[in-house]
Amino acid sequence: MRRFDNGALAVTMPLMPNLYPLVKPILMSMDAERAHGLTIGALKAGLGGLAKASGTDDPVLRTHFLGHDLPNPIGVAAGFDKNADVPGAVLKLGFGFTEVGTITPRPQLGNPKPRLFRLAEDDGVINRMGFNNAGSEAVAARLTRSKPGIAGMVGVNIGANKDSEDFAADYVTGLQRFDGLANYFVINISSPNTPGLRDLQGQAALAALLDRLLETRAGLARSSRTPLLVKIAPDLSAEDHEAICAEAVAHKIDGLIVSNTTLSRPDSLKGVNKAEAGGLSGRPLMALSTEMLARTYALTQGAMPLVGVGGIMSGRDAYAKICAGASVVQLYSGLVYEGPALLGRIKNELTVCLAEDGFKSVAAAVGSRAN
Ligand SMILES: Cc1cc2nc3c(=O)[nH]c(=O)nc-3n(C[C@H](O)[C@H](O)[C@H](O)COP(=O)(O)O)c2cc1C
Repeated sequence: MRRFDNGALAVTMPLMPNLYPLVKPILMSMDAERAHGLTIGALKAGLGGLAKASGTDDPVLRTHFLGHDLPNPIGVAAGFDKNADVPGAVLKLGFGFTEVGTITPRPQLGNPKPRLFRLAEDDGVINRMGFNNAGSEAVAARLTRSKPGIAGMVGVNIGANKDSEDFAADYVTGLQRFDGLANYFVINISSPNTPGLRDLQGQAALAALLDRLLETRAGLARSSRTPLLVKIAPDLSAEDHEAICAEAVAHKIDGLIVSNTTLSRPDSLKGVNKAEAGGLSGRPLMALSTEMLARTYALTQGAMPLVGVGGIMSGRDAYAKICAGASVVQLYSGLVYEGPALLGRIKNELTVCLAEDGFKSVAAAVGSRAN
């Protein structure tokens, strides 16, 4: 084990053998959505303990985020635990925080199956799930039962029903239903799989939405000060992107999540499923989302923390996001290919990256290489 100048230990010893290589061929031979359902089932059944990769996190990874002290800056992105079935189990795997959802006011089946596709040659995923979820009443009831027993930060990601006549009203309902149940709220206006939803990223629509949501939040009995974040798409025009950042700053939003999946398809894609409709995530999204993150950091000038998400497959990727301006990062697709052991590897590599560049904390590295 190597000790760096910042006191960091480079190697986090695995507590348990990594069983994922044994399970992976079985999961990969299955339909992607079924494999995900089994993963959630295994976590629900308490099997996550078998995959826990590390003991105590290296102190250099400790991060202050939205008023909370996190053991590390690595979170699970929205979409993994849509119905808040396993937030406690996810945190026990060693993630620094987790985000449940997207949750819409009414339950929703989502798009017809198949709607989740692996691009194994690219380490990519295409999904057009369409906000399949149990609805805010059922999920809020579940969180009411589980949240008191969960040690750690749980964000709640809120969306609109596909057939809603007033998308903005759905976000209002979401805030009200999750009053007292979220450590932060995310307003997801960037899913490509609900027609018209991304129009809320236009400047006038966003300004009106934020006015309404901030007023709603102020009236909540328990969450009147709960941080409110907005999650944006990586496909915005430069003009729309600038306008969103300006509105976020003007409305004193508590953070931006950069980014959701992309509708673009890089020429480099090899996977047979590359022409499927939906949002692309995983390795092919890394460069695009990190560029957008760096531009967001430049445009917001440190007015709010940023969450970097999109294509993280290694600790170096996580570090690149942090250097581009992310205070914390999230991932989902990497878990499909590497399983939970990816988390331990990311933490180790991130510790090494920080030490190599002489940073004594994650916070010190934030934005150190933004454009
Ligand atoms: C199957 C799947 C479902 C997703 N569902 C949601 C969702 O409900 N809400 C959301 O905000 N993002 C959702 N996302 C996007 C992720 O949160 C994340 O922004 C994106 O996948 C990029 O990160 P990654 O490359 O690490 O996967 C989903 C992604 C995938 C792959």
